[in-house]
Amino acid sequence: MPLHRSTPRTHKHPTTAPAAPASPPEFLLNNELPRDHFPASGGQPHAIHQAIAEELLLDGNSKQNLATFCQTWEAPEVHQLMDLAIDKNLIDKDEYPQTAEIESRCVRMLADLWHAPGEALGCSTVGSSEAAMLGGMAAKWRWRERQRAAGKPTDRPNMVCGSVQICWHKFAKYWDIELREVGMRPGSLCMAAADVRERVDENTIFVVPTMGVTYHGLYEDVAGIAAALDDYEAKTGIDIPIHVDAASGGFLAPFTAPDGEPWDFRLPRVKSINASGHKFGLAPLGVGWVMWRTPADLPDDLVFHVSYLGGDMPTFQINFSRPAGQVISQYYDFVRLGREGYAAIHGQAHAVAQACAAELASHDCFRIVHDGDPAKGIPAVVWTMVDGASPGFTLYDLADRLRMRGWQVPAYPFTGQLAGQAFQRILVRRDFNLEMADLLMRDLRTAVEHFAAHPAAPDASQTHGYSHT
Ligand SMILES: Cc1ncc(COP(=O)(O)O)c(C=O)c1O
Repeated sequence: MPLHRSTPRTHKHPTTAPAAPASPPEFLLNNELPRDHFPASGGQPHAIHQAIAEELLLDGNSKQNLATFCQTWEAPEVHQLMDLAIDKNLIDKDEYPQTAEIESRCVRMLADLWHAPGEALGCSTVGSSEAAMLGGMAAKWRWRERQRAAGKPTDRPNMVCGSVQICWHKFAKYWDIELREVGMRPGSLCMAAADVRERVDENTIFVVPTMGVTYHGLYEDVAGIAAALDDYEAKTGIDIPIHVDAASGGFLAPFTAPDGEPWDFRLPRVKSINASGHKFGLAPLGVGWVMWRTPADLPDDLVFHVSYLGGDMPTFQINFSRPAGQVISQYYDFVRLGREGYAAIHGQAHAVAQACAAELASHDCFRIVHDGDPAKGIPAVVWTMVDGASPGFTLYDLADRLRMRGWQVPAYPFTGQLAGQAFQRILVRRDFNLEMADLLMRDLRTAVEHFAAHPAAPDASQTHGYSHT
């Protein structure tokens, strides 16, 4: 969350409640909404609702937000389930045992989807960031135990990863872990097995490959990295586990690339996986999942117990209270869609991404980095400028121009040696259909033609656009 500051108390503060307004429904619409002080008295629900709803129009249209990985459409049945669950707290297992049962069913289904070999363990979270935090803590605890048992120091843990989402930077900072991040290089956008071999040692708590790197959507080579770590163990005796950040890919690859290289619990080295239910899991915002290969992979020391129907429910989470509707809706999605439904929805998204990639590739100035191929990554298109191209605009200019039509198509730098180069990305979700894609591609072509006739002024400040924080 952005941190918000309060403003100094310079605003006029009514110290006594104002007299009742003459015509209540119009009261607030004729005045500003309170912004800096806690109002002395309230107002009419309809008028306030209308004023807030109108203010929210300034947010822009989420359907045209092609930056977000998160769901921007939910079925009417999901809205109804969210409404039914609005008063349910997910932590109250005793009061809402059936909701607890539904969460358990989701965990069992994910264990099945991700090929857990036997009894696995998992839980819902607010999203992948909390899931990453939990997976990371478990890895740190396991490593520390191993080091202690061997009489070795426990003060310098590290982790190895590619260009990760900000949640892993947070994890490393909050839990005092040295982050050995492999930056991007020309021709090498993902962490490779050789990069891992160069960076691991006995203080590596885990390696974190990403199934769907946030910057470009490509899948990292989990199987290749696991093989490199097998080899490392054979030579050194040091057993380094893998946690897969499958925030996006966890709900894509099983359906859209089922015959691809294994990336999940089929690889014995994969001890935990996180995924965002609210991304390609198709659930409404506010749910993620983390799974451990076996109960032994989550140290008991981290588990807290809440009472459940007079019994005991082990829990592992950062927040205590949480809304239950997202988990219930996730279960609805699993049952409503099944493997076939997910494959159809995500298959369509990949087809739209590939159609956009083909159109973008027809512009001489663009080079496609990810074309939405389901074998390689998530349903997204990512492109950059062809080296040496001078079409009269930068990708930041293009992003600004598309904003005039409401489209949010972020431009941003990559990492490592590519930190100075701009890339642009379209994230395709289920409600971005071919018709919408066609409209966007037409607007983009019009923008390119506009810049050909009226080149944008060079702007030295254009080094940063969208941020992944
Ligand atoms: C690879 C990856 N990991 C983690 C996250 C964080 O996920 P969430 O927004 O569910 O906390 C994201 C978000 O985009 C992501 O792309």
